[in-house]
Amino acid sequence: MAQVSSLSRDPSVPLARNPHLLRWVEKMRQLTRPAAVHWVDGSDEENEYLCDLLVRNGTFIRLNQDLWPGCYYARSDASDVARVEDRTFVCSLSKDAAGPTNNWVNPYEMRRILKEKFNGAMEGRTMYVLPFSLGVVGSPASQIGVQLTDSPYVVVSMRIMARIGQPVFAEIDRGTKRVVPCMHSVGAPLAPGQKDVPWPCNPEKYIVHFPETREIWSYGSGYGGNALLSKKCFGLRIASVMARDEGWMAEHMLILGLESPEGEKTYVAAAFPSACGKTNLAMLIPPPGLEDWKVTTLGDDIAWLRPDADGRLRAINPETGVFGVAPGTSEATNPNAMAMIRRNTIFTNVALTPDGGVWWEGMTKEPPAECLDWQGRRWTPELAAETGATAAHPNARFTAPLSQVPTIDPDWEHPDGVPISAIIFGGRRAHTTPLVYQAFNWTAGVYAGATMGSETTAAATGAVGRVRRDPMAMLPFCGYHMGDYFRHWIKMQRRLRETPKVFAVNWFRKDANGRFLWPGFRENMRVLKWIVGRVRGRVLARETSLGWMPRYEDIDWTGIDFSRETFDGLQTVDPAAWRREVIEHEELFIELHDHLPPEMIYERELLICRL
Ligand code: OXD
Ligand code: MN
Repeated sequence: MAQVSSLSRDPSVPLARNPHLLRWVEKMRQLTRPAAVHWVDGSDEENEYLCDLLVRNGTFIRLNQDLWPGCYYARSDASDVARVEDRTFVCSLSKDAAGPTNNWVNPYEMRRILKEKFNGAMEGRTMYVLPFSLGVVGSPASQIGVQLTDSPYVVVSMRIMARIGQPVFAEIDRGTKRVVPCMHSVGAPLAPGQKDVPWPCNPEKYIVHFPETREIWSYGSGYGGNALLSKKCFGLRIASVMARDEGWMAEHMLILGLESPEGEKTYVAAAFPSACGKTNLAMLIPPPGLEDWKVTTLGDDIAWLRPDADGRLRAINPETGVFGVAPGTSEATNPNAMAMIRRNTIFTNVALTPDGGVWWEGMTKEPPAECLDWQGRRWTPELAAETGATAAHPNARFTAPLSQVPTIDPDWEHPDGVPISAIIFGGRRAHTTPLVYQAFNWTAGVYAGATMGSETTAAATGAVGRVRRDPMAMLPFCGYHMGDYFRHWIKMQRRLRETPKVFAVNWFRKDANGRFLWPGFRENMRVLKWIVGRVRGRVLARETSLGWMPRYEDIDWTGIDFSRETFDGLQTVDPAAWRREVIEHEELFIELHDHLPPEMIYERELLICRL
């Protein structure tokens, strides 16, 4: 790749004329006092310039370009490795509007804190004016934001994750859309002559949302969802508020297409908590025996769903990139992701191999004889056996263009999105929850989603492996009261002529010896095929207390030897365990009680009666 140490244009010259934007940028410049302002045009030249700058600053290491063309490697500060949910705030005017599952601070108080934090926060740095569109630029389903950031790492990452640059400025100048202001600083001003560190950040972090004014302020972190504000902050927290007000849905869901051997296409959206295999499912390759089916990929993390003129629910992926968990990703578990990340990818907190490549736990059966770990320390398998240290951080990530996935769906950028026939809710549960069932109807499906539980993962700081209620996988991402969010889900049915069928899955059930009962990965296609059959009214199921469940003979077992006994174990509904489960549902509902739609109470009562 060409080395670009200067730009052929003056980046301080504004690329937009919109007076509101110009006024806001100037106001924020005065507050944060950067040494320079850079308007981001999104060009290749600019990207190469910024990547070179990051290499010179020590944030990036250019990987071996013969093996990993266009790829870079970054190590974050050891204290800045994941989303910080305890430092994430939803500052609505009233505490009640944010609900008990969000951290709330009085917005006036929070504005005072932020003003203080951002005062001079960018001294010695460049402030980038980064416009982005979530969804195809100019589509009615899209939304626009402008992020002001002092992190060039964020700029080059957002170039992968969203549509950025000149076309978005042009859209802002057309003035047809409200722009969401997104303020971001790593919170590490530089004194004159002070040498920068590779990963500037601040021990004190604030990830703040003002839902009524549709504003985002993020301070202190340069990592992932804390800093790429298009993703969780806008794409989910602010978008969920917009969606409630405007009659659509912003969900933590992958989108995939399933093409039958006859060429019939069915699209599904699926919600799983962070680091529970959404990226793998979105890129699934059907297993031996079902090769005549095709899975196509549209998104792996966020879906915006809205009813079309015919009353069908259509989904777009507002993003253009994948910010995927690296550990566990391999040719065996996700060959499509491995093909996607071969070029033009940013790797963060994985290990660096002596040949200028990358490695992480699970990438290959044999670990490299030695490498540098995610903190730059020498790592060998022997040292790991002694100390238990992993080479990659468990939340190490790749940031890669979705368009590079070999299975990309031809309609992934269709401005109107694709019609969704099924919604799947999934959690990571060692016990209690069966492999798959279909909810009796929309409301029962909303109940299944609302009561989802999952064991926590490394995607957020905090304890790993504890079961927590994570309604619709949106617990960390809903920008308003969860009870109102359930109500919004219930109400969406009235806008739809045809509701998608709702399913619950659990790939992670274990037997008494702690072994997974289900092989997962490619074999999940068998469950997806049953789901397509249900949606199309072609396969049978038996009625159970939870919903409709496949019998052994309803699943296509071609090409696999899977016993009826193991399947029965996977599908067991233990009434005693489920009665305990329902009591746990109640714990969340008690917290939400004054906003809970009555349907949730009735569904719970019906479930108890059936048990
Ligand atoms: C993500 C997450 O990064 O959910 O997608 O944490
Ligand atoms: Mn996610």
